[in-house]
Amino acid sequence: MYYSEEIIEEIRSQNDLVDVVSEYVRLQRKGSSYFGLCPFHNEDTASFSVSPDKQMYYCFGCQAGGNVFTFIMQMENFSFVEAIKHLADRAHITLPQPEYSEEVRRKMEEKQVLLDIHKEAAKYFYANLRSPRGQQANEYLNKRKLNKNTQKLFGIGYSNMDFADLYQYLLYKGYDEALILKSGLVIPKKKGKGFVDRFRNRIMFPIFDVHNQIIGFGGRVLDDSLPKYMNSPDTPLFDKSKNLYGLNYARASGKNQILIVEGYMDVISLYQAGFENVVASLGTAFTQQHAFLLKRYTGEVIIVYDSDLAGTNAALRAIPILSSAGLKIKVVQVPGEKDPDDFIKQNGPEAFQTLLDQAMGAVMFQVSVLRKKYNIEDTEQKIKFTIEVAQLLSRLDNEIERDVYLQEIANDTKISAQSILNEMNKYKAIQRKNTNKINIYSKKIEAQPQNHLKINKESSNIDEKNGLYKAQKNILRFLYNNASFYPKIKPHLSYEDFIDPILKKVAQLIYEQYDKGLNIEPATVINHFENLNEQKQVSLIFGEEKNKSQDYDIEKAINDQLKLIKRANIDKKSRNASDIYEIQSLIEQKKQLEKLYINLISG
Ligand code: UTP
Ligand code: MN
Repeated sequence: MYYSEEIIEEIRSQNDLVDVVSEYVRLQRKGSSYFGLCPFHNEDTASFSVSPDKQMYYCFGCQAGGNVFTFIMQMENFSFVEAIKHLADRAHITLPQPEYSEEVRRKMEEKQVLLDIHKEAAKYFYANLRSPRGQQANEYLNKRKLNKNTQKLFGIGYSNMDFADLYQYLLYKGYDEALILKSGLVIPKKKGKGFVDRFRNRIMFPIFDVHNQIIGFGGRVLDDSLPKYMNSPDTPLFDKSKNLYGLNYARASGKNQILIVEGYMDVISLYQAGFENVVASLGTAFTQQHAFLLKRYTGEVIIVYDSDLAGTNAALRAIPILSSAGLKIKVVQVPGEKDPDDFIKQNGPEAFQTLLDQAMGAVMFQVSVLRKKYNIEDTEQKIKFTIEVAQLLSRLDNEIERDVYLQEIANDTKISAQSILNEMNKYKAIQRKNTNKINIYSKKIEAQPQNHLKINKESSNIDEKNGLYKAQKNILRFLYNNASFYPKIKPHLSYEDFIDPILKKVAQLIYEQYDKGLNIEPATVINHFENLNEQKQVSLIFGEEKNKSQDYDIEKAINDQLKLIKRANIDKKSRNASDIYEIQSLIEQKKQLEKLYINLISG
């Protein structure tokens, strides 16, 4: 984070949420809150509420919620830092200039010059395309059916035939030779001294980062010669593994998913046809960094690759990478050896939309690939197919989803769901054995009379995880709403006992505030999270209290939930325990825990 907690809090407190929201939404006062139509989903009853006391908003329809930073991030599609700058500006607060070391300042200056060089080069290519020298290139773009408006939007240009046209121009503009070389736009001459342009006689595609700055170029030949594309090399500005072509537009498209395609032309052509939510990795395999970059702007991606072998393999490789960033994934295979650009030109946007509507879930796609790999008429191959499918499905956490797939596959292949399930269970058993060191002791422990002394049985079960998450959230919610009980809870549950990393951080903030004898300001707690999803998650802790239950029920619930968290902690330690003494001590702790009951109502 660039800015101090104090300045962030200052900016927040100087931007009253009701005022800020009122710039976008018509609000009406009802009791202690304001209500209006939610700007984040379509509705005709006002379920979007703003609390002036808590300085938080919450939508009862779509569960959007947060503080003033969250609101601006969601509304304007800004990053946290962008939202800080925007709101500082709005409140006429001057942000402190960060202090940098000599080394860092030099690098920043160099980066700025490189950005200037790229901008200058883009203008140059752009003007070229529109001059007599660009005639052939123009004809080519017409042939590819890119209209003038699209060309302008993507800043498309043309690099001349001449050897060092751009190089001379940049020198003439006063740029330092060493920096021109660093920009990657020129290369040393093969023979003799001096430089020549890297891109010659190519259609030029500027590559933008998310802030709309040009950081590199791709250049395409006008005919069938090779290499078809040339791209900027890695430079201090440009790293292929971290940037996605089209993301500057896709992130602002306001759509729920982002489409991933293979090429420059696919992005541009889809954009022109009205699909503005589209990106391409720049001629490289999909990286983890690409995935996290996308995750900042969307929860769901649709991979739209060619249906040839290369496209299929690229999709198969991308799936685990995207999935590990927590993205929901669908796959579309463009039929008939075509890429999305060809397809949409031949069949139109409606047909393309139909393809998207029929997108397969990632697992189903993986299964369909396996299906083609094996001939299930052959018994031996059918067994192999069943085993591989079972392995795929056993990785699914969600049982409902898994059962749907199971049924579909069973119908399709005439392999009984039960035999796939049996295979899956075998596979799961192996997984458990491998990961669970403590298994060797489990027999002994399970022999104990009390059920709950079982250590780590099925702790990967999704419902249990959900229950654990809920327990942590509820305890935090309870602590926030009932400061007076904090001294009773704290001795039994430290903030470090919280397991979910985000909730742990919230717990720490709440504990620290209470230890100082201060109140909890929900909006201030949210300040500590930069990521939009995290902010939303945190804001749910501070949202309206649901129907109040009886005191006794609450007391019991709090005790149960506290124990659930402590137990999960002990289980976690047990999994990592290295010797029998440690395990015995943990078992003892568990016993003690079961005896614990915190009396909240009476003394
Ligand atoms: P494609 O060959 O599918 O390109 O390569 P395309 O975008 O569909 O181009 P057209 O329609 O033939 O004009 C996909 C991407 O792979 C990278 C480029 O980023 C390209 O957009 N690529 C391809 C290269 O970097 N170098 C090459 O020689 C070829
Ligand atoms: Mn193409």
